[in-house]
Amino acid sequence: MSRMFVPGPVDVADEVLQAQAAPMLPHRSKEFEAIYRRAAEKSQQLFYTKYRVFLTASSGTGLQEAAIRNFVNKRVLSIVNGAFAERWYEVAVYNGKEVDELAFAWDTPASPDRIADAVKKGGFEAITIVHNETSTGLQNPVKEVAEAIRAVAPDTLIFVDAVSSLGGAKIEMDAWGIDMLLTSSQKCLALPPGLALGAVSDRAMKKAESVENRGWYFDLVRMEKHRLKDSSPATPAMSLIFALDFQLDRILAEGLDKRFARHSAMAKRVQEWAEAHDQSIYAPEGYRSQTVTTIKNDRGISVSDLNAFLKQREMRIANGYGPLKDKTFRIAHMGEIRMQDIEKLLKAMEEFLKK
Ligand SMILES: Cc1ncc(COP(=O)(O)O)c(C=O)c1O
Repeated sequence: MSRMFVPGPVDVADEVLQAQAAPMLPHRSKEFEAIYRRAAEKSQQLFYTKYRVFLTASSGTGLQEAAIRNFVNKRVLSIVNGAFAERWYEVAVYNGKEVDELAFAWDTPASPDRIADAVKKGGFEAITIVHNETSTGLQNPVKEVAEAIRAVAPDTLIFVDAVSSLGGAKIEMDAWGIDMLLTSSQKCLALPPGLALGAVSDRAMKKAESVENRGWYFDLVRMEKHRLKDSSPATPAMSLIFALDFQLDRILAEGLDKRFARHSAMAKRVQEWAEAHDQSIYAPEGYRSQTVTTIKNDRGISVSDLNAFLKQREMRIANGYGPLKDKTFRIAHMGEIRMQDIEKLLKAMEEFLKK
């Protein structure tokens, strides 16, 4: 299998791809409902939650929108220190909410104290924050942010995007007090794109009942009624659910703590390698992603030449995102990637640097 060290869509193991090839079933059959239920229940372990996990036929952005539509009547605060946090802010704006943006520089972690100050003054119903900014390789201190919010405004709902970290880093939804935690299939879960997973707390579900204009497709109150019967209002992405069911067994067999440790070890190795080769890490120490490392292009290499070189060896990395294109490049170490793959990549990169 060729190795894509890109932060999604990532390589999918052959046996997981094969799991999608199972024959279709009527989606309102007992056989399919059992698979649907099993996949959702196993997913709860990844979210560290006793609450419900919705499986939607959409990518993660669909659930960013669902959070805004279902749980916010009017006012929301978006914490923005990267491209995907900015997207969530825009999703709230385009859905007609009154949204304040609390911005930090992209290389700066969100500050729990500044967020608590803003929440204290603002009268917000909810905040949005990205756990792992795929654009910068920065991991926000979500646990501390949630704690700080709870100390000043305990009723504020906390929505967390873990699109590029859930399943690769430990995020304890219930212990941290998160109200909606969402992810996509094509990153740390190492599935094809097209499925999103979102866990929602009871208090958020209660609030949703009083929110108007929740829409139809992503109306989580409607979805919950169906979910309680192991079903969904519209046709689910059945092949992806087959693959999720199968992949969750593989993930749980590896062991979550072991899986997270594998990701951290690869992150550390990539960071140390970059620094030993005169390239610094974009995110500050203590806030570096476990699943994707953004390296500053201090040596001024051509990222497209590097990728052309790597592609001849059946590997590829990702250029910097948006304004960071060519100024940085990104090495993802998530999903099926193992340390021996990283070693192979770094060896090839060394060869390229020597040229
Ligand atoms: C942190 C983060 N949030 C949201 C998204 C959007 O997810 P999707 O493309 O699954 O809608 C991405 C995509 O890369 C992401 O990395």
